[in-house]
Amino acid sequence: MRIFFTGGSGKAGRHVAPHLAEQGHHVTNADLVPLRHPAVADLRVDLTDAGETYSALAGLATFDELDLPEKPTYDAVVHFAAVPAILLTSDAATYATNVLSTYNVLEAATRLGVRKIVFASSETTYGVCFAQGERRPLYLPVDEDHPTVPEDAYAMSKVAGEVTARSFQARTGADVYGLRINNVIEPDEYGELFPPFLTDPSLRRRNLFAYIDVRDLGQMVQRCLEVDGLGYEVFNVANADMSVAATTQELQHRFYDGVEVRREMDRNETFYAIDKARDLLGFEPRHSWRQVLSDPGGRNG
Ligand SMILES: NC(=O)c1ccc[n+]([C@@H]2O[C@H](COP(=O)([O-])OP(=O)(O)OC[C@H]3O[C@@H](n4cnc5c(N)ncnc54)[C@H](O)[C@@H]3O)[C@@H](O)[C@H]2O)c1
Repeated sequence: MRIFFTGGSGKAGRHVAPHLAEQGHHVTNADLVPLRHPAVADLRVDLTDAGETYSALAGLATFDELDLPEKPTYDAVVHFAAVPAILLTSDAATYATNVLSTYNVLEAATRLGVRKIVFASSETTYGVCFAQGERRPLYLPVDEDHPTVPEDAYAMSKVAGEVTARSFQARTGADVYGLRINNVIEPDEYGELFPPFLTDPSLRRRNLFAYIDVRDLGQMVQRCLEVDGLGYEVFNVANADMSVAATTQELQHRFYDGVEVRREMDRNETFYAIDKARDLLGFEPRHSWRQVLSDPGGRNG
């Protein structure tokens, strides 16, 4: 596939865009800054500018494409570009950047006839992550039916992105899949980040104790590109286990007393349900902190 990948220079994109290129796809990275990866074409685009976005998505990706008999078109868009949290800039700028860039990408892709769009939404849409004070989920495990009524500007921008995506999908019937991505972890982050998580699970309360290895996020995007015909869908994206050493039942007892539990859960199973991605896409996370670090309580399982 010829893929227009936005935000490919960022924390997640710099792994996922090259991963897609390794699978044999032609990947163009549309970002404010270049990735400079030999297998990925860079295009400097400000996606908050509708004209720039449309022009980039309609245009060539590399000089080599000049030698093709006809100008190629994109088969898929993967939209990752964003301000990825609160407190990086003002709330107003976070919201404006994310909502405008997502609208521009979706409109251009829709008008240019792209039939597969995968976009980054977020775990924060469930309202727990960036809530003032403590907010608990309404039920466990948190699946895609859980209400998305967040209080913060970043998560609001992601809810708005989902609503916009659903509406563009209604125009064309194309496949538009939104990824409610949990906290992204790069392979070299386990050694530094995880030891404190393992001894103090409360550090992970705002992420529902979950995480997603960026390599498994790459697999998820790949599965989204491979599975056609689902129309508009959103998917939780997390690893199968917790980012802490305590068991699921211990965490439930300590942090979620009184919260409805809708089904039995395995001892290390994530509270951030990935059943839908497993069922509809065949997603199966392969990476875990348990392959890298030893569990201080000896409770690996
Ligand atoms: N990192 C996480 O833990 C996490 C969790 C959930 C969801 N997400 C979402 O996943 C996506 C990727 O996150 P990330 O951590 O890689 O973020 P990042 O900030 O590392 O990367 C985002 C990229 O988008 C680019 N960008 C920003 N504004 C742009 C614009 N106007 N035009 C073009 N490019 C622009 C940036 O230059 C950057 O390279 C985002 O949509 C984010 O909201 C991330």
